[in-house]
Amino acid sequence: MQNLEALRAELLASFEQAADLAALDQARVAALGKKGRLTERMKGLGTLEPDARKAAGQELNRLKGELTEALDARRAALEGGALDARLGAEKVDITLPVRPESEGRIHPISQVLDEMAAIFGDMGFAIVEGPDIEDDFHNFTALNIPPEHPARQMHDTFYFPERDDGSRRLLRTHTSPVQIRTMKAGEPPYRIIAPGRTYRCDYDITHTPMFHQIEGLVVDEHTHMGHLKGCLIDFAKSFFEVDNLPVRFRPSYFPFTEPSAEMDIGCSRDGGVLRIGEGADWMEILGCGMVNPRVLEMSGVDPARYQGFAFGLGVERSAMLKYGIPDLRTFYDADARWLKHYGFAAGDVPSLVGGLTR
Ligand code: DAH
Repeated sequence: MQNLEALRAELLASFEQAADLAALDQARVAALGKKGRLTERMKGLGTLEPDARKAAGQELNRLKGELTEALDARRAALEGGALDARLGAEKVDITLPVRPESEGRIHPISQVLDEMAAIFGDMGFAIVEGPDIEDDFHNFTALNIPPEHPARQMHDTFYFPERDDGSRRLLRTHTSPVQIRTMKAGEPPYRIIAPGRTYRCDYDITHTPMFHQIEGLVVDEHTHMGHLKGCLIDFAKSFFEVDNLPVRFRPSYFPFTEPSAEMDIGCSRDGGVLRIGEGADWMEILGCGMVNPRVLEMSGVDPARYQGFAFGLGVERSAMLKYGIPDLRTFYDADARWLKHYGFAAGDVPSLVGGLTR
């Protein structure tokens, strides 16, 4: 019979040489399994004289303990190694820059919407949305534009076919109906912006049939024109990133506000190049005013107790002014070269803290 010391060395070596957990298990079975080398030896004890059996049994048990320990140690080492290998293979180097080969770009519309949301969000405005498909009441009547009002013609509305009850739904011509929906849905005070798509039947260098607006509405018990001016001047300075931006409010007319105004910012057009924040020229950027008491009333808000201001601005127009994009129609050409030039990297998330623009 093989001497015990030689068997011990051989079995320990078989554990040590196992290259992975599966091989180690095979070595275990070969040593300690039902028909394993050590197990066979233990079975042979029965043929020995009692005294010899006792001594040999003790020795075999000691060896079994030693082998089990060696087996556990080798298993732990292999498991650790497996984990290390996995960690090594799955390693992510967070010091690497964002993949430079990424071709994807954020569209200027999305970027400008995010910039505006960052500014108004910082002032405490909530973002709400309304449906693109509207009815006459929300798009016109509740905004103090009755059926024969000339403003209806100005809006070049896309209508859906007439329904059985004679009503026609339409694609909203502005985001102002969201004012009505907001006021009807909850109690004042309100402080919201409503970004979204709007539609008018028009197409030239400054008009597309679909475009974007952002509506603003602030209603509370003591809201006044000073709040309107402060809010919109702050907005324009943040958005155009010019601290001493010249602004002026020009009297205007909108059926849903009284008084109404348009806000202009100072610019120069010397040599055909538009520069915002300098020079003697003016550029209109938005419409605004104090919410007409009739609009509050039609939305179920008591005009004797509440008053507020509203504003609406064009997103494409703001993007064109800020980023020097000359033709509105190119926004919707889906031209990858255009997007590569005017688009933004995915990491350029605008925030007032991190910076609005890269
Ligand atoms: N709805 C107007 C338009 O599309 C823009 C507008 C002007 C919205 C004045 C307002 C406002 O809320 O007060 O031309």
